[in-house]
Parts: sequence; structure tokens; C-alpha cells
Amino acid sequence: MHNMKHFTSAFDAQSVRDLIQLGSYLKKYPNAFSDAGKNLTLGTVFMNPSLRTRLSTSKAAQLLGMNLLSINAQSEGWALDFSDAPMNHTTVENIREAAAVMGEYCDILGVRSFPTLNNKQRDDSEQDIIQWMNLSRKPLISLESATRHPLQSLADMMTLQELFPDKKPKVVLMWAPHVKPVPQAVANSFAEWMYFMNTDFTIACPDEVRLNEEFTAHATITNNQTEALKDADVIYAKSWASYAEYGTLHHNAEWMLTSEKLRINPDVKVMHCLPVRRDVELGASILDSSNSVVIQQASNRVPAAQAVLLQMIRDNYRNEINLSVSEQIALNQLA
Ligand code: CP
Repeated sequence: MHNMKHFTSAFDAQSVRDLIQLGSYLKKYPNAFSDAGKNLTLGTVFMNPSLRTRLSTSKAAQLLGMNLLSINAQSEGWALDFSDAPMNHTTVENIREAAAVMGEYCDILGVRSFPTLNNKQRDDSEQDIIQWMNLSRKPLISLESATRHPLQSLADMMTLQELFPDKKPKVVLMWAPHVKPVPQAVANSFAEWMYFMNTDFTIACPDEVRLNEEFTAHATITNNQTEALKDADVIYAKSWASYAEYGTLHHNAEWMLTSEKLRINPDVKVMHCLPVRRDVELGASILDSSNSVVIQQASNRVPAAQAVLLQMIRDNYRNEINLSVSEQIALNQLA
């Protein structure tokens, strides 16, 4: 067993199953650990826009009694430089000082940093988030990095468990069209977390947009959307840019999931991480129907973030906290 020093992928969890269980427990009892983070500060840095991640992580920190500092580095901070070259262009502050200063102000740091989508080597190396981690010298939570979105994935795993508590479901991650190339992080991460789940997992996508095999070795991969849809219990619709032709947009509007396509499987549940472009990525009539579980997914972002923060508080600062969910349930039943 190892402590969770950082949280950047499923492999940082001591046990994915326990983390999901802790998230489910916190969903039911959001105030069960309301003092756990007292006098500790979470600092979040957003290098890219966010609605769900920023607000759910803030709410999770509040529920644990933490102090919160948050900055949108794009609009509120100085233009950051991640290189060692002389800073004689437009950047104003180097990551070396920015991360070190944030480390002085915070006990746990959360960072969102999207991929460039034009420099595969740089994106695959995760150098931006690793620089934040190393230079801040504080425990770090990924709020979505170049290749992964682990907080989204944990919420997605909770959602799957809620939908199918007693069944090994057939789960299909299905590529969706878009008007611009978007990161592979949500799709990569979902595939990575599926490795730990008891499901029958398929990825349906055009051949041109197959994901990095590092994330998909355990999945069945098909380019036949209809076949994949036919007997699926749940479809996770998501767009992503090509990995082989790195960062390019694949034009295939035919792949948009519509209510007409769902006629062959009318009870299938449909997931999406949001934000979603209605009637471009996913049919609006699906989003407005009982097939859609996108709000349930977004709701699960709060207990998912709370579970990760709580585990990191315990492992890095407060070893006395008892995270045994069965014992906590017993205590709540007594109360
Ligand atoms: N799903 C998700 O991460 O949403 P935001 O980009 O709004 O945080």
C-alpha cells in the first residue's frame, strides 16, 4: 500500500474500489468529515477555462472545512513561461517562481493544464503539471492535464456503479464530432479507469481517431457505431482530436448520436462529461431525454473531489483520520 501523495491518474489511488466507495459515502453524508481540512489551504490554478471542475473542487474543499485560494491564470495571473530560455518575449513570470510561491501559500495544489495539441512529445510528457508538482513541493491534484482527467473519471466510475450496482455492464466510449480539435484527456482517462472496473468495455471510433494505445490495450475497439450501440448498456459520447495525426480535427458529422440512432437500443444510458455542443457532439433530444445521465455525472464531481481531497489530507497531513467507510457507516447509524 502507498500513500496518495499526488492524484494525477487512477494509478495514484491506493485502491480505486475504496476511493469510489468513499465518494459514494460522501455523497450520502457530505458533512461527515467537515473538520478534516480545518486550517489547511487548497490552492487551485486554472490555465484553461472550467465550470464543473472549478466549482465542484471548491465545494468539496468547503465541505471538508478547508480554506480555498483559486486563480484563473489566463485572465487573472501573469503570462507564464515554462521554459529556461531568456524571457525577452511576452511572458512575465516563470513557472519556477510561480509554482514555488503557490507552494508557500497552499497545503494542497490543484492544477488544470490542457495539451498544446500541436506538440505530442511535450503533451505526452506531462511536463507542465510535473513542473507544478516538483516546483511547488506540495501534494498536487490534477484538475485535468494534457493526457488525463482523473477527477472526471472518478465521478464517471461512481455514476456507472450507481447505474449498474448488480450487473457487469457493456460500456461503450463513443467518439463524437466537433467543430474544433479537443483534448483526448477525458477519453484516455475514462479508458484507463475502466481497467479497474468489472465491465465489458468497447471504444467505438473512426480509425483516424484511435486513442494512444497506452490507454486502450484492454478495450475492444471498433469502427462500427451501429454494432457498438446495439447491445450497449451505456454510451459515453465524447469528441477527441486525432492522436496519430496529432491534434487534427476529424470531420465526420455522421457520428453524432441522435434519438433516431437510439431506436435500436431505446433504454441505453448516455454519458458526457460536459460542456457539450448540442446537436454537434450529441443530439439535443437525447440530452433532454431520460437516456441522459449527464447531470448525475456532473453532480458526482463534488463527492469525487471530496473523496480525493480527504484521502490526500489524511495521507499527507492527518494520519489520525479514519477513512474506513464501513466504520463510518456504523457511526452514522448510531448518531
Ligand atoms: N467536465 C469538466 O471538466 O468540465 P469543466 O471543463 O467545466 O471543468
